[in-house]
Amino acid sequence: MGHVMAEYVGYRARDGVAVLEIDNPPVNALSQAVRQALLRAFERASDDTSVHAIVLIGTGRAFSAGADIREFDQPSAEPSLPELCDALEASTKPVVACLHGAALGGGYELALAAHGRLALAGTRIGFPEINLGLLPGAGGTQRFPRVAGIDAAVELMLSGKPVTLKEPMEHSFVDGLVEGDLLSAGIALAHALREDPLKPTKDRREAFADGMAYQAAIARARSSVSSHPTRAAAAIVDCLEAASLLPFRAGLALERDLFLELRETNEAAALRHAFLAVREAVKPREGLPAGRAIQKVGLIGGGLMGAGIAVTCLDAGCSVQLLEKSADAAVTARTRVEGIYDRAIARGRLTEAARNARLARLNCTANLPDIARCELVLECVDEDAALKTRLLSDAGAVMASDAILASNTSYSDIDMLAKASGRPDRFVGLHFFAPAHVQALVEVGVGSDTAPEVEATAMAFATALGKKPIRVTATEGLLANRLLAAYRLAADGCLARGATPYEVDEAMRAYGFGIGPYESFDLSGLDISAAFRASYAELRGGRRFDIADLLCQEGRLGQKTGRGFYIYDDAKDPRRGREDDALLAMIDAERERRGYEAQSLKPYAIQEACLLAMMNEGGRLLDEGIAERAGDIDVVMIFGFGFPRHRGGPMKAAELSGLLRHLRRLEDLARRDPFWTPSETLREAVKNGNRFSAVL
Ligand code: CAA
Repeated sequence: MGHVMAEYVGYRARDGVAVLEIDNPPVNALSQAVRQALLRAFERASDDTSVHAIVLIGTGRAFSAGADIREFDQPSAEPSLPELCDALEASTKPVVACLHGAALGGGYELALAAHGRLALAGTRIGFPEINLGLLPGAGGTQRFPRVAGIDAAVELMLSGKPVTLKEPMEHSFVDGLVEGDLLSAGIALAHALREDPLKPTKDRREAFADGMAYQAAIARARSSVSSHPTRAAAAIVDCLEAASLLPFRAGLALERDLFLELRETNEAAALRHAFLAVREAVKPREGLPAGRAIQKVGLIGGGLMGAGIAVTCLDAGCSVQLLEKSADAAVTARTRVEGIYDRAIARGRLTEAARNARLARLNCTANLPDIARCELVLECVDEDAALKTRLLSDAGAVMASDAILASNTSYSDIDMLAKASGRPDRFVGLHFFAPAHVQALVEVGVGSDTAPEVEATAMAFATALGKKPIRVTATEGLLANRLLAAYRLAADGCLARGATPYEVDEAMRAYGFGIGPYESFDLSGLDISAAFRASYAELRGGRRFDIADLLCQEGRLGQKTGRGFYIYDDAKDPRRGREDDALLAMIDAERERRGYEAQSLKPYAIQEACLLAMMNEGGRLLDEGIAERAGDIDVVMIFGFGFPRHRGGPMKAAELSGLLRHLRRLEDLARRDPFWTPSETLREAVKNGNRFSAVL
């Protein structure tokens, strides 16, 4: 038996079978070094006359998560994954791929090029390429429909979602599922294939036999992707169509061409950035001590926010003491939590039994001492600094001295609240986004006195809740609200120049946001941010054209009052707004009063103004040391406010469209309004290769 542990790929040969073991933690991404090592090991097995079959397996938690995403920004390097796949496929010795954990993208494509596939039950396979603006570029679009049929190919490749392999196996994604010893099963299959080979994937054409059905599936897929934000979706459909129309090699060549083309697109660069930026953002700072696990959570306030956070905590297995101001309010809070679970049951997302088990861990109370034994207490009442201060001080007085007190504030001064809590070192901001049981983002506001262990515990707590925590040096408004305020100021600027709120919303939806800034305003309530809007505009010296203020004076606070920027009077759907001519007249009058001249604004001008404002505010948050990385700004905007992921967030989008151009435009705008004064970070980035990351 020969056994050599080489870097990246282990090699051992026994009883006529060579076992090639991919070893590139954490997820066996197929970087150039891995591909090279795999090819060498494969050639060695091919040349070894004592070897008759080859088994491919992975170490650690996954067979392979596919191509190395970090490599896509560099020129492609030999050997390419398609070359490697071709070599495996052409092998005269049978090759068996043994999958476990996850086999995604290029990882699964490698397996598709093998002559047989086995997987441990529970393995996830899938084609996440579309999430990166790519198509499966290592033969997947040609081999997978041959193995699994067109419907499965369309489903997996266009959704990007992995499927978990389990019994009963109603598909042919692998040739068998294994419960116990995967390697032994793989070796056994390799021996068996020597005697009795399966039909090579490239020669399988059963899926194309019913040409009409195949074409119909392609036509359905094509119409479903017509408004997809990236070009990848249509390219995937083209490749799947080619699988049935073209000879195998020609199909592969088309797939490769389209893959290389997509790789260079801005969408793909933006989506790669989003993938990596969020993983970077949620990592605790280096050097922090380990955080403590939190089991017993106290919540102060059971309104919409409190109920959503309660559900999040219960779902994650914590017990929750929810403190309200009166016994009646405690009952209402419980009903609110139950309502969220009931809706989940109605949608088939939760069982009665699971709901009951979760609710058994919830105690809604009006009795302050009930929170005394909680390890972390989070205040989540309305944005009223005086109320928050009083509640935090009351809570601090009854809690254990080493317990953590937190506030869900998005506007108040964290240091001021920390002082009120009586334990500034054990105080931290935990800003959830509404609805808290749905939205992934949590801003962890670290105050001047917050102890490192408390910061670490807060990050770990949010992660344990399944959220994406972003560390923010606490200031009023944290990151998210500053960015939002800048966005709104820019949008208001468009109104001042002549656009209507409806045009602004439409332009931003066309840019890729799910809803426009004024629709979102109506959703969250115009009054909530009123004080912050004013103080933000003052901070930035921005000229205010705040129609929301005028609407507030009239009691038009958004959806909750039936009127805001839109009118909500659809009996069937109270959330559906319609445009309001009276509001347009009000805006005209306001413009006139201020002596502004109305002009018509193109959607591009609106989008540019909003992007510039967000990017520039991001730059200033970096200047001030409130944010740490440009990527954090992007993550906050994508996960907190629905900034289109395929544009990468405001910082990446600005990079991709050229920072120098944006700097010049800001300088020009700043001559008339200091709000647009370019950030230092932007100036530095322009000097340093047009990249924010180069100066941070
Ligand atoms: N390339 C490079 N790094 C990767 C990676 C990849 N394909 N997949 C994961 N990683 C890294 C992550 O960045 C992370 O790194 P850090 O620890 O430094 O932050 C680490 O691996 C662990 O990843 P997660 O935090 O995501 O761990 P998880 O257990 O939650 O999820 C996973 C594991 C399901 C594999 C998930 O990482 C994932 O979905 N990865 C992306 C898979 C993917 O998109 N593959 C397709 C690549 S494109 C392709 O293959 C093109 C082609 O056809 C040729």
